[in-house]
Amino acid sequence: MEQKKPTIVSGITATGQLTLGNYIGAIKNFIELQEDNNLIIFVANLHAITIPISKEELRNNIKNMIALYYACGLDPKKAIIFIQSDILEVTLLSHILLCNATVGELSRMTQFKDKSTKIKAENCTEFIPTGLLTYPALMAADILLYDADLVPVGKDQKQHIELTRNIAKRMNNRYQQDLFKIPTDFIPPIGGKIMDLQNPTKKMSKSSKDIKSFISLLDPCDVIRKKIRSAVTDSESKITYNPEKKPGVSNLLTIYAVLKKVSIETAVKEFVQQDYGQLKEQVAIAIIDTLEPLQIKYQKLMQYQTIDELIEAGATKAQAIANKKITKVKNIIGLNYKKK
Ligand code: AMP
Ligand code: TRP
Repeated sequence: MEQKKPTIVSGITATGQLTLGNYIGAIKNFIELQEDNNLIIFVANLHAITIPISKEELRNNIKNMIALYYACGLDPKKAIIFIQSDILEVTLLSHILLCNATVGELSRMTQFKDKSTKIKAENCTEFIPTGLLTYPALMAADILLYDADLVPVGKDQKQHIELTRNIAKRMNNRYQQDLFKIPTDFIPPIGGKIMDLQNPTKKMSKSSKDIKSFISLLDPCDVIRKKIRSAVTDSESKITYNPEKKPGVSNLLTIYAVLKKVSIETAVKEFVQQDYGQLKEQVAIAIIDTLEPLQIKYQKLMQYQTIDELIEAGATKAQAIANKKITKVKNIIGLNYKKK
């Protein structure tokens, strides 16, 4: 009997421009996983509205992100690629999961604590959207709706996947053992957390206000060179890998190692006789070599109408899986009075 391929599910929130952190922590792994698995990837536009965003920006982000997925190498013939909100079942499942999650566990999520503290500090307000608190239940719904075996994400999302597993196990115990598949996270061994170029103790983030702190996948070559040149390092001059003592240099070595497909040890050896300036130059070249071809593909894709057709086709495939799963969930928990 032929073995069923594992199902891989992931998404990226449609806020801001995709960064090198998104590419290394998530997208690069999506591409590698599409060969031997059932890959389901979406643009998380419902997660994007958990923080105020203008409709123009949101619309732009959705289309840009889909085009960037394709440009990075996601193949609509191999993977199901769609927009999260096109599948309404996810919001129904999110509600069901919320009824099986506690306020305590949601408010303990690090991302919720960080984002709500930031909103309070930046806007001098106590107005915290409830969507920020319920965010992980929507993410759990994304994962459980499509019966994911594996969820490729960066390190920061590990806690949300742990919560997804807990809710799924709780509901399996309460209702029926095969209600949900229990997913596992897939975090790359190197590059799971690419750091901010200006403050290398913080994660590189697309919502950062300082554009020098991240590389956008669409940054022109000269901008990439400038941003890498101005990356914060330290006052020593020796190139060694030590994320705690030398976070800036270690971050540059990580970026280089992942993009050149070598181990950290090999990268360190390559730079043994070199200074920080030379390291930065080589890191910038590695980034440009990766991003330039992708940017050319992106520009071409944005000129054609085919994107809209591809998005619709992706949604149709996702819809079929979602329909089947939500019917099963409704039957098992008693929402359908006439069991189908
Ligand atoms: P986000 O930008 O928060 O929507 O993240 C989308 C995906 O990219 C998630 O899997 C994140 O864990 C991953 N990701 C975001 N920023 C980074 C980063 N700086 N390093 C590694 N992975 C990241
Ligand atoms: N919350 C994730 C992030 O911002 C994006 C996301 C939404 C996601 N739903 C998901 C990732 C489901 C993996 C699986 O990084």
